[in-house]
Amino acid sequence: MSRIEGLRGVPETLLIPLAARALAHRRHPRMRFRDREAERIAEEVQVDFDRYAADGRSVRGVIARSRWFDRVCLEFLARHPEPTFVSLGSGLNTMYERLRSAAEGRRFRWIDSDLPEVVSLRRTIFPDDSLRTTIELDLADPNVFDRVDVAESRALMLVAEGLVMYLSPEAAVAVFRDAARCFAAARALCFAFDYASPSMVARSRQHAALRKIKDDSVAFQWGLPRAKDLAAIDLRWTVLEESSAPMTCAGPLPAAIEAVHRILTGRRFYACALLERVAASRDSQGETPGSP
Ligand SMILES: C[S@@+](CC[C@H](N)C(=O)[O-])C[C@H]1O[C@@H](n2cnc3c(N)ncnc32)[C@H](O)[C@@H]1O
Repeated sequence: MSRIEGLRGVPETLLIPLAARALAHRRHPRMRFRDREAERIAEEVQVDFDRYAADGRSVRGVIARSRWFDRVCLEFLARHPEPTFVSLGSGLNTMYERLRSAAEGRRFRWIDSDLPEVVSLRRTIFPDDSLRTTIELDLADPNVFDRVDVAESRALMLVAEGLVMYLSPEAAVAVFRDAARCFAAARALCFAFDYASPSMVARSRQHAALRKIKDDSVAFQWGLPRAKDLAAIDLRWTVLEESSAPMTCAGPLPAAIEAVHRILTGRRFYACALLERVAASRDSQGETPGSP
């Protein structure tokens, strides 16, 4: 039995972005994204491309999303000496390897995390080294960040690619609230993530890639109308940038859906967002009264 055959439920979704990144160079060379490690790993674990990468729009969307995450991580690294990155719901993502090859020798620490069964699989593929460690972290657990050991003096960036929409609304809100609280002492704090609008969440089982997941109860659970609504969870978060590239680069139909949704609602259908923890003056205000 191949190592990935036992993946069931939400962990199986990690095969969708892995397949997309592994195929990027061959299928969409004009998108200028090549991930040799993903190519190697997809071959090693024998990913079924016909199943997980059958939908070209989803593949292009993942490539655009991964390019966005790579860029914001690289920019954070350029701004802060020896930062730490904490990747949540890492799946078999190769973001660490890509950042390392683009970092031109600049040092950083990297922590990969996911559910226990995914971490067991990851450990058979990605060896930890002096700069990268892998830990089990179920974001549905209360006070989950208390278990993340980061030096307080460092700049810290959390990355969550293709993750928060799978969390319950309570768990998702807790992630943003607890991150601001637990890492309050970090010299700088950013959080890069992608989010689905409530309209997208309502239609998630129609998503071509998600329909390939064996367990048909797997669906998006948490929708966020606007990234700036996170200030209602914790006033310390402010939005530095947002991008609809995973929609606009995915093809004419996703681009049209994004445009029409924006016209009708004034909001994004699906987007990547970068949050920054604002300076101490607002920090003292902490959580908003009555925040969940
Ligand atoms: C679509 S995959 C994305 C994987 C990876 N970030 C990538 O871009 O390749 C979603 C990931 O979220 C993880 N995940 C879902 N719920 C989680 C939870 N409660 N705690 C931690 N990870 C979770 C899954 O195990 C899976 O690896």
